[in-house]
Amino acid sequence: MKITVVGAGAVGATVADNIARKELSEELVLLDIKEGLAEGKAMDMMQTATLLGFDTKITGSTNDYAKTAGSDVVVITSGIPRKPGMTREELIGTNANIVKGVTENILKHSPDAIIIVISNPMDTMTQLALQSSGLPKERIIGMGGILDSSRFKFYLSQALNCSPADLNAVVIGGHGDTTMIPLIRYATWNSAPVSEFLSEEQQQKVVSDTMVGGATLTKLIGTSAWYAPGAAGAALVESIVRDEKKLFACCVALEGEYGQKDICLGVPVIIGKKGWEKIIDYKLKEKEQAEFNKSADAVRSMNDVLKTL
Ligand code: 2OP
Repeated sequence: MKITVVGAGAVGATVADNIARKELSEELVLLDIKEGLAEGKAMDMMQTATLLGFDTKITGSTNDYAKTAGSDVVVITSGIPRKPGMTREELIGTNANIVKGVTENILKHSPDAIIIVISNPMDTMTQLALQSSGLPKERIIGMGGILDSSRFKFYLSQALNCSPADLNAVVIGGHGDTTMIPLIRYATWNSAPVSEFLSEEQQQKVVSDTMVGGATLTKLIGTSAWYAPGAAGAALVESIVRDEKKLFACCVALEGEYGQKDICLGVPVIIGKKGWEKIIDYKLKEKEQAEFNKSADAVRSMNDVLKTL
């Protein structure tokens, strides 16, 4: 098994670090456009191998895509991150060109790869990767819902004063502060609906904190977060390479599911060795479906910007 992570910034390096620690592949290539950055981070990580006890061989490369040849899974994290006060959407112009170029280069050397897109604005970058690659839809997965669901569980665990491990909760829709939909009605604490333990007001606070989860961190740190995005990216890789068939919310191409088509948006899917293998149809209530449609409209108008670039 060979995995490539494109972009050796904080998110890319953290995805790679998690992949190595979990020994998800024999070979792991980290690639970046900045001279020496990927080589340096790969070497630094390799120097943790005996301390952490992993066998994955990590190599770095400055923009030499030949080194990525034959990758089974490629994670794209390239692009500029958010600064405080910026939305993910404001990154579109710069990141679209980067993601398009990366996708093309990757496919020249790894035509059978499954591609995971993390670059922001993630929903639009996933759409772009799907269009520019011409790959079957199952092999393009946008990573946003796993991260947002993890943040949702974090805020729920604080409100309930419980272990996040005992929670089940999912965020669908776009990966944007106003487009994501934390499905509180479906959230459970060891099978019991959280609504049995939290007031309407507490639930609303969890939902709104989740929606601005990324922005809260950007404000505190001064740039986008990386630990949770990195761990979420690696969890997705793990379900693919181990064929775990885990149910994650991911950004995938919809063709009528959830009442939408010709758009990549976050819905619950089964992730296995073929990429995303099946969309799971949660029966949304009218209000939730209306929110999902609104989210699709917002992402669609962002996707329209691609045509103007
Ligand atoms: C986040 O939400 C980077 O979009 C990512 O932190």
